[in-house]
Amino acid sequence: MDLTTRYMGLDLKNPLVASASPLTGELDSLKRIEDAGAAAVVLPSLFQEEIEAETARYEHLTSVHDDSWPEGLSNFPKLPDAKHGPHHYLELVRRARQAVGVPVIASLNGISNEGWISYARQLQEAGANGLELNVYFIPADLATTGRDVEQRYLDILRSVRAAVSIPIAIKLSPYFSSVGNMALALQEAGADALVLFNRFYQPDLDPTRLQVLTDLKLSGPDEIRLPLLWLAVLSGRTKASLAASTGVTGAEEVVKYLLVGADVVMTTSSLLRKGPAHMATLLAGLRAWLEAREFTSLQHVRGIMSQRSLRDPQAYERANYLKILQGYRPPDLSTPGRRSAAV
Ligand SMILES: Cc1cc2nc3c(=O)[nH]c(=O)nc-3n(C[C@H](O)[C@H](O)[C@H](O)COP(=O)(O)O)c2cc1C
Repeated sequence: MDLTTRYMGLDLKNPLVASASPLTGELDSLKRIEDAGAAAVVLPSLFQEEIEAETARYEHLTSVHDDSWPEGLSNFPKLPDAKHGPHHYLELVRRARQAVGVPVIASLNGISNEGWISYARQLQEAGANGLELNVYFIPADLATTGRDVEQRYLDILRSVRAAVSIPIAIKLSPYFSSVGNMALALQEAGADALVLFNRFYQPDLDPTRLQVLTDLKLSGPDEIRLPLLWLAVLSGRTKASLAASTGVTGAEEVVKYLLVGADVVMTTSSLLRKGPAHMATLLAGLRAWLEAREFTSLQHVRGIMSQRSLRDPQAYERANYLKILQGYRPPDLSTPGRRSAAV
């Protein structure tokens, strides 16, 4: 069975990639993820804030004159701890490269086109096989236009592109007015791969205590529908590779994402829920699905249900929505039992 695939210029033994999470930030779990069959790993992000905090600390230290009071040193901000910050991260990249044989993709997470971007070069020098960019930007300032947000993504990507020669993937927001057009613009700006999609943290409320809840909910299989739609539309229309991300729970979601044209399928929540060994379950499920249908290569199924491949490309557009609405029959609410069940 040939499961090989190419993603952001990297040849991978299969399409399963562990996306960024605390699990990929520890060497022990990285090795376990590799042992379970992952073809590549994305390290957790190095955040712009971590880089800027470190830069500020060093500027503070270097601005001290020789005649300063030694006691004054105790007032300086602390240097980065062993677990966080750019130095720790560069060390993580180096160690991850030594610990696993599969490609290691470092991740940078920031929102503005400033000095922190120079760290991209250091990540390359530390041995990262590729770089994933996560522009986690919430335009809560109402003066920000859609065009501003798009420009922000493009500026950051162009700066990183100019700084490194390794492949770059960008994790897209699903909230652009025209996702497909933005995908093409990012490709033009130098993205080798597009990750669909970034999963924005959405807070909830506790109405009893009148508090904003800050719990992090892992994803479920229902969440694949939005990325599935856009992967289907983009497949065969971009030079950039396509990664499916969000909602993978079992092999079924992996298969669906490949059918619409993903080059790789990423998962975080399923590994956090079930442990690194779950990667092997996903891989076995994918193999079983292909074998049951006598496919001998992933190439034979990838994209066969993309918009370009379907005889009815309208299936992914407005026309299908109209058809569905016209065919929809509301539940029968005439009996009291049914009524309360529907509520
Ligand atoms: C605990 C946790 C930590 C995460 N950390 C990062 C991160 O550092 N950088 C990043 O780009 N995404 C991060 N993510 C997002 C995941 O990489 C992924 O995009 C998201 O969980 C959706 O995929 P899933 O449905 O397979 O979980 C994190 C997700 C979780 C649950």
